[in-house]
Amino acid sequence: MSVTILGIESSCDDTSAAIIRDGCLLSNVIAGQAVHEQYGGVVPELASRAHQQNIVPVVHQAIRRAGIDRREIDAVAVTQGPGLLGSLMVGFSFAKGFSQGLDIPIIEVNHLQAHVLSAFIKKPDQDNNTPRFPFLCLLVSGGNSQIVLVRSYYQMEIVGKTIDDAAGEAFDKCAKVMGLPYPGGPHIDRLAQTGNPDAFIFNKPHIADFDYSFSGLKTSFLYLLRDRIIEDEHFVEKNLNDICASLQKTIIAILLDKLLKAAKHFGIQQFTLSGGVSANSGLRSALHDLAQRHNCEVFLPPLEFTTDNAAMVAITGHYKYLNGDFANLGAVPFARTMI
Ligand code: KG4
Repeated sequence: MSVTILGIESSCDDTSAAIIRDGCLLSNVIAGQAVHEQYGGVVPELASRAHQQNIVPVVHQAIRRAGIDRREIDAVAVTQGPGLLGSLMVGFSFAKGFSQGLDIPIIEVNHLQAHVLSAFIKKPDQDNNTPRFPFLCLLVSGGNSQIVLVRSYYQMEIVGKTIDDAAGEAFDKCAKVMGLPYPGGPHIDRLAQTGNPDAFIFNKPHIADFDYSFSGLKTSFLYLLRDRIIEDEHFVEKNLNDICASLQKTIIAILLDKLLKAAKHFGIQQFTLSGGVSANSGLRSALHDLAQRHNCEVFLPPLEFTTDNAAMVAITGHYKYLNGDFANLGAVPFARTMI
């Protein structure tokens, strides 16, 4: 029996729809929202309004690009949370209407679980190498930094998480201080490539178990800049690449030290990476090197699945469909959830 799922994602500032048939991606359409750039961060009300404008054309295009008729869709999977409530409401309400109109089930999807299961999205005509259970997923985004122990499609446990800022926030906040555009992560990544990662030393946190903290790094970063700018007001411009490289090296070291500690503790030899920060070139190569040194396997996501996308919602919907895990029309989105 063939299963075709429409996935819808609208948790933050990307409106996305995707079609997955039997776990294989047929289309993945993402409409970004440039309106937030001028504010240096996502403005929730503007995000909801943009989702309202985008949702119908984005879903329409996903179905068209997949080359299917909408009556071939077996279920609609939609992000329930966590995210911005107003943004989630747009996707969720649309999904309810769509499921009613076609008389098909609706499947609610946890955004973080979807990031984890993005490792299982298959692409047509490609060598689809997917992880085997159990594995550890390093989930790093603008709002989360977690180590997730994944035992099956349905069983996953957060074994480490940030107690304050997320890794993406550390990138973005430090970038803002240096006058880089929002979001700063990709800019730091680009500038770091020609910088000296050992030029500056930033403090690393001492946090118990497998948890993370990035707010101390932010403070260490601010103190360094303040002290050096007092000596030379052009310090940041003159040393931008070295500052970015040193900051990035520290963030990567913090992330991977705990991942390795967790891997040893739980006896795991496979890693996946997901979330927006998993696009970071330094993190990708450092994780690759770590895996080689410790005789582990690593599954790096294609860049198109690192940021928010509906393909990961659709693949989660696919497995929930197989498990008969459907929602009813009384379901509501919520801003905060845990896996
Ligand atoms: O998962 P995501 O798209 O959504 C949120 O959780 O908001 O992640 C966005 C985060 C931002 O903090 C952004 O700066 C970061 O991912 N990011 C990067 C890179 N690309 C995106 N951080 C470091 N290096 C990158 N290449």
